[in-house]
Amino acid sequence: MNIQQALALRGEPESYERQENAWLLEHITKIDSFDLVMKKDKELTAEQEQAYREAIARIEAGEPLAYVTGSQPFWTLDLKVTSDTLVPRPDTEVLVETVLKLELPEDARVVDLGTGTGAIALSLASERPNWSLTATDIYEPTLEVAKFNAEQHDLDQVQFVLGSWLKPFGRQFFDVIVSNPPYIDPADEHMHNLATEPQRALISDKKGLADLEQIILQAKKHLTVEGWVVLEHGYDQADAVQHLFRQAGYKKVRTVKDYGGNDRVTLAQWPH
Ligand SMILES: C[S@@+](CC[C@H](N)C(=O)[O-])C[C@H]1O[C@@H](n2cnc3c(N)ncnc32)[C@H](O)[C@@H]1O
Repeated sequence: MNIQQALALRGEPESYERQENAWLLEHITKIDSFDLVMKKDKELTAEQEQAYREAIARIEAGEPLAYVTGSQPFWTLDLKVTSDTLVPRPDTEVLVETVLKLELPEDARVVDLGTGTGAIALSLASERPNWSLTATDIYEPTLEVAKFNAEQHDLDQVQFVLGSWLKPFGRQFFDVIVSNPPYIDPADEHMHNLATEPQRALISDKKGLADLEQIILQAKKHLTVEGWVVLEHGYDQADAVQHLFRQAGYKKVRTVKDYGGNDRVTLAQWPH
């Protein structure tokens, strides 16, 4: 099988499936996906063809490409991804941008709760080397992936803490508490599309709002004066999250849209 035949194995010309085929071939052959067309007559080795066919079968069975290749680009970083982590989504970059635009001290203390691959914490650390960043998760194997990603990108200023939301932090204070917590309603009919990713990363009680609420309430005891909480949520949860913030006494509550024009991030400030 040559590269042209491999590219055409699945999907219509110009389709997303064909693009995925190209990324898979890049991963397997180490030929840049942009150069594949120029090398279309090159034959795959027997091992490459077998690896490619197996990878295609996994994707057709519903696994995300990132689980098959073991990595996912996020912000400027290439992150290791395993079945213990959520695949970081491009819309979460809006959360990173929102935090970077805040007026904060030079040496801001920032915590990313439920860090998964480390996507948010490591992106912030890469942009703001003077910040003191902490990343947490409730699941040790997930935290190990985030630590690996920090080492890969030489971001050794990031501290890692195992535990539930802000419980591990005693009397510690932060200028920013950021999180992309689980926020999908367990009854959501689209959950079957996400069946290969860990449920602990996705589902939350109270129609998806239980973890967002816990973070909003716990954060009050861990924010510096005028500190911020910045949370990702579902496209239809902005009103509910704004209400939770206001009810808890926060000010300057506002929502930011994602690249698709959906409400995606709500932030609020703890007053004087
Ligand atoms: C939606 S994923 C987000 C992962 C990553 N921050 C991202 O944006 O790609 C939620 C993460 O929260 C973690 N998590 C779930 N419940 C938690 C809890 N009670 N305390 C801390 N982390 C939790 C999960 O293990 C998962 O890694």
